[in-house]
Amino acid sequence: MTNVLLRPARDGECGELSALCLRSKAVWGYDAAFLEACRAELSIRPADLDPGLLHVAEVDGKLVGVVQITPEGADLHLDKLFIDPGILRTGIGRRLLDWAVSRAAELGAARLVIDADPGAADFYRRMGATDAGVVASGSIPGRFLPRLELLLADPAGR
Ligand SMILES: CC(C)(COP(=O)(O)OP(=O)(O)OC[C@H]1O[C@@H](n2cnc3c(N)ncnc32)[C@H](O)[C@@H]1OP(=O)(O)O)[C@@H](O)C(=O)NCCC(=O)NCCS
Repeated sequence: MTNVLLRPARDGECGELSALCLRSKAVWGYDAAFLEACRAELSIRPADLDPGLLHVAEVDGKLVGVVQITPEGADLHLDKLFIDPGILRTGIGRRLLDWAVSRAAELGAARLVIDADPGAADFYRRMGATDAGVVASGSIPGRFLPRLELLLADPAGR
């Protein structure tokens, strides 16, 4: 897809972006109770709209993706990467992940750490990430997620 605009989010887009995250998460077939338990973690608030840490993808004036990163020590953590279900596998996830990786390099991070939905783990592996254990879900007690990492100093990493 060529007509994709990556840009910072604007004031007033938090509600639409939070809805996009939930709609996107639902592609893996989770039920309503599960999605409700994830709602807080998937919400985007005005304080999140740091243009250096959050970007959106827009196609024809419509928000179709969002990525959010957070510095954590020497690492950068991928907090959110959500693409509209109607536009999966058209390269927007790759574009937004590329933005996160280039920001990580600008910020001097050694690696990008990704606590992935199990359904998305193969996407990250396809993007060059390697497995780095498991981590407890922030939303569902007792659930564990695959942790992956993109080593930014590794030229073969992507
Ligand atoms: C995971 C996700 C972000 C991928 O975004 P996308 O825009 O569909 O991915 P792209 O089109 O950029 O795909 C890039 C490559 O990865 C591959 N790919 C995409 N999703 C994949 C998947 N689930 N499993 C394996 N490969 C995948 C594509 O085929 C493409 O391969 P190529 O290099 O041969 O062209 C998207 O599926 C999504 O938002 N899922 C729901 C929400 C979610 O789980 N987000 C991640 C939270 S950790």
